[in-house]
Amino acid sequence: MSVRFSIEQLDATRFNAHLEDFQRLLAACVTEGASIGFILPLAAAVNSGFWQDSVAPGVARGARLLFAALHEERVVGSVQLVLDTPANQPHRAEVVKLLVHPEYRRLGIARQLMQRLEDAARAHGRELLTLDTRSDDHAEPLYLSLGYQVAGRIPGYALDARQPERRDSTTLMYKTLPAMPAKLDDPLL
Ligand SMILES: CC(C)(COP(=O)(O)OP(=O)(O)OC[C@H]1O[C@@H](n2cnc3c(N)ncnc32)[C@H](O)[C@@H]1OP(=O)(O)O)[C@@H](O)C(=O)NCCC(=O)NCCS
Repeated sequence: MSVRFSIEQLDATRFNAHLEDFQRLLAACVTEGASIGFILPLAAAVNSGFWQDSVAPGVARGARLLFAALHEERVVGSVQLVLDTPANQPHRAEVVKLLVHPEYRRLGIARQLMQRLEDAARAHGRELLTLDTRSDDHAEPLYLSLGYQVAGRIPGYALDARQPERRDSTTLMYKTLPAMPAKLDDPLL
């Protein structure tokens, strides 16, 4: 399948304009069992509350960067970079909620979202990216292929979205980003 999509960083206004898309994306991913902080059934109020209370304020303050994959003006994938780290970690940022709609998988969308996020992280002076992902999920080979290292595994970390009596392990990962290339007009060159 050849699908044209663009990867864009959304500001608060564009985020609000696409709020329903984000809710549809989250619902579709959780319904097919993604381990991204929610369990089924996912109430509409929990879904909209997540975007409006946990995401929107950070995007508005610039503390959370939001990237979207857009296909025909609809959000089909997304990832976020959390910049509001503690005072002793100004060089670190956290990658959260990498989501690609089940109908748009294996098209390279997640890889492109991550590459765009890393460019933005470097532009914000962040050299160390950290994340966690359910152990043995499809995301793990993706992160490994992008150069993320495994810091370790925590057993029994999160309830399974579809079978909450089951507890899944999580894998903690990190990547040290290469330094920004020096600008050609840099007076030190
Ligand atoms: C994980 C996820 C984001 C991948 O999105 P995607 O757009 O399909 O991924 P890409 O097409 O960019 O694939 C990149 C690489 O990921 C790995 N990958 C992705 N899906 C895979 C699958 N079903 N099986 C095996 N490897 C897979 C492969 O290494 C792939 O590279 P390749 O296509 O060159 O082999 C998507 O499956 C998803 O949204 N899952 C649910 C949410 C989730 O678990 N997010 C991660 C939270 S940490």
